[in-house]
Amino acid sequence: MSDDTPPHGFSPRTASYEADPEQVGRVLLLYSGGLDTSVMLKWIQDEYGAEVVCLTVNLGQPDEDYEVIKGKAIQLGALDCHIVDAREEFAREYVAPAIKANALYGNYPLFTALGRPLIAKLAVEHARRAGCDTIAHGCTGKGNDQVRIEATVATLAPELKVIAPVRSWEMGRDEEIAYAREHGIPIKGSHPPGTEAAPYSIDDNLWGRSSEGRWIEDLDHAPEDDVFQLVTRPEEAPDEAEIIELQFERGLPIALNGERLGLVELIERTAEIGARHGVGIVDHIEDRIVGLKVRDIYEAPAAAIVLPAHQELERLVCTIHQNQFKPQLERQWAYLVYAGLWWEPLRSDLDAYMERVNEQVTGTIGMRLYRGSARVVTRSSPNAVYDASLASFAQSGGPFSQAASPGFIELFSLQSRMAWRLRNRF
Ligand code: ARG
Repeated sequence: MSDDTPPHGFSPRTASYEADPEQVGRVLLLYSGGLDTSVMLKWIQDEYGAEVVCLTVNLGQPDEDYEVIKGKAIQLGALDCHIVDAREEFAREYVAPAIKANALYGNYPLFTALGRPLIAKLAVEHARRAGCDTIAHGCTGKGNDQVRIEATVATLAPELKVIAPVRSWEMGRDEEIAYAREHGIPIKGSHPPGTEAAPYSIDDNLWGRSSEGRWIEDLDHAPEDDVFQLVTRPEEAPDEAEIIELQFERGLPIALNGERLGLVELIERTAEIGARHGVGIVDHIEDRIVGLKVRDIYEAPAAAIVLPAHQELERLVCTIHQNQFKPQLERQWAYLVYAGLWWEPLRSDLDAYMERVNEQVTGTIGMRLYRGSARVVTRSSPNAVYDASLASFAQSGGPFSQAASPGFIELFSLQSRMAWRLRNRF
């Protein structure tokens, strides 16, 4: 092939970390077993004449059969397919700081954004170990995930290159299906040719599940029932409320209904209970990193219970000044992480603050779950900056003197009263 005509599907390189097709020898492919990455597995071998090693990461996405995924990868010519169970690391290193930072972007409890930097970090480790020169992923050129993955690879492994075939191969879904048929790539749910309904674009892990595409792109289209594969629709949830208790120690949940559990299991069990009660559905418009607005349907039952519980306990043990300050940092934390800058030093600077505040966040929160809602109903903490006898209207005395209140009010309102008088000239 001559130097000035790139082979079919290769666009000229824009970034320095993008692979030069001539130099791709062995590729680490982030493989899900779905249509895009299966077509990609074959396509990379054909178009680049390269070897492919696959990596599939288990972050707690439900109903995945990793043996089947591995078998499919090998059948499609992968040298190997590494399956990594990263649930513990994901919970400890990514979800835990998100809990301490009450991480929400808009109303979206970050989960995909937490998973991608870990997936990309594991891709780097496995690429190095397997002697790969390039990492390939299945993200599109319009989304956030390409940013998160490539920013991670470029940060952690400047020697590795990246290819993102979906950005360049210019195959639509029909062409991909045709390519799959032509190359003997099994397609899930074997419909007769041409009748496959395009699936939703799904991403999930133990902290949540997102769906995009199809009717979700029509903003005036109300959610269709079949999108909810994790959370029971609230109208079908039990007509009886359930109260659960979450016990926290230094900012992290450690027990559910009195039973001590590791974080992964606690999240999984909380998700199960929340899902049963229809908790955690978010129909969300968000501002993507690359400028587009997009609508997502999220199902995040564990996050919809753990985050409000954590937040409530934190407010109870913090002072008014801490409570007013922390949300500003939380917003910054959530934006950095949403925007793929997990490895940015400001994120760990912010974590240091989150850690410090969370040293006090110990106690128990009761949540009432009922048909789509999760509401705090009880709180207790040895560190609560709360004294029932001081707060009570019934009593007087101690360090709170009601007699001091009028003096406080006079001084506290002084500037506001002066300004009011000036503006109203009396
Ligand atoms: N909008 C969410 C985010 O950026 C979810 C993205 C989900 N990715 C997907 N491949 N469907 O974090």
